[in-house]
Amino acid sequence: MKNIKVNLGERSYAIYIDAGLLKNIGNILTEAGVGHDVVVITNPKVGYFYKDILVSQLKETGFETRVIEIPDGEDYKNLKTVAYLYDKLVEMKAHRKTTLIALGGGVIGDIVGFVAATFMRGIPFVQIPTTLLAQVDSSVGGKTGVNLTTAKNMVGAFWQPQVVIIDPDVLKTLSLREIKSGLAEVIKYGMIHDADFFEYLEKNIQHIERLESEAMIHIIDSSCKIKAEVVESDEREAGLRAILNFGHTIGHALESQTSYQLFRHGEAISIGMAAAVKIAARIGMFPRKDVTRLITLLQMAGLPVKFKDLSPDDLLQTMFSDKKNVSSEHIRFILPKRIGHVIMVEDLSQQVIVDILKEQKE
Ligand SMILES: NC(=O)c1ccc[n+]([C@@H]2O[C@H](COP(=O)([O-])OP(=O)(O)OC[C@H]3O[C@@H](n4cnc5c(N)ncnc54)[C@H](O)[C@@H]3O)[C@@H](O)[C@H]2O)c1
Repeated sequence: MKNIKVNLGERSYAIYIDAGLLKNIGNILTEAGVGHDVVVITNPKVGYFYKDILVSQLKETGFETRVIEIPDGEDYKNLKTVAYLYDKLVEMKAHRKTTLIALGGGVIGDIVGFVAATFMRGIPFVQIPTTLLAQVDSSVGGKTGVNLTTAKNMVGAFWQPQVVIIDPDVLKTLSLREIKSGLAEVIKYGMIHDADFFEYLEKNIQHIERLESEAMIHIIDSSCKIKAEVVESDEREAGLRAILNFGHTIGHALESQTSYQLFRHGEAISIGMAAAVKIAARIGMFPRKDVTRLITLLQMAGLPVKFKDLSPDDLLQTMFSDKKNVSSEHIRFILPKRIGHVIMVEDLSQQVIVDILKEQKE
């Protein structure tokens, strides 16, 4: 079993990764010091596959266990669902020592984390991420929150889990499209921080596609280590954590322009990364041969690198309207100097961005 420690002083926690971990979860939670009273929160889709095994494990190891299901999907990541959960927890007589267990993808993790951060001014929670995206990204780092009708992830809190339990076996029931979407974030970690890991992905993509345990454990472990390292040095996103946004400036604009309906997050990020390396090569800071390496890897992973129908000028305007991206009159970009190392660039010409977006349009 892999065990990563996320060092954040008194908010430190462990990430455990192994195939079949769900079947032994009671002991791990006991060892991690999780309190006796737990409430599992999931949705019917994930619950169908994994609720019974989780609940029977918890009960066998002596946990007082209740379950709440909320509807599946991003549409329910809102304050109404949060209010519903608060009411349910009050009804169940949950208290300060009750631990919430988030069983699901990033949507469940973000909602449950936010409820844990705010119910009774903060109670413990455990992440059991069940999508690849959640296993390598959203379950680690403590960002929690929900959407408003007007903006995504607009209400939230930093709230670290007590422990994260990752069982790659659960990915076997996940759709191929969701697996690929998660792979975009995995490839991102190689690009921003670890050239050897990038090379591993190039050499092992077939094993990963077949969800072979050894390969999956390795990519999840490597991704979580990189994310943990970045989060440790910048827990509240004041500086270094921005490198995690490689591919996201254009990616978010693509998602926003299509009202979050067309692309899975990783698909938009994939196109965003392909465009970002082209921009970096165009301004002479990144080798052209490495543009080809990234684009080839994204394509081998079954991810898109181009978009259709959207206007490059509109995308540029959307990037400007995202305040996180803008410094004075420039858009901030995370761009690679080489595979495994990225920097923030703040003085890009708008013309270069639009030119590359035109190239990326099919
Ligand atoms: N907090 C963070 O740092 C952070 C980072 C990135 C993304 N996010 C958030 O994560 C969310 C996206 O997460 P996601 O991509 O995991 O989507 P998701 O949670 O909607 O899951 C995708 C679909 O897969 C289903 N599913 C989950 N696990 C399954 C399994 N093992 N087998 C079968 N089906 C399964 C879900 O029910 C859902 O239908 C977004 O809301 C995004 O804002 C948060």
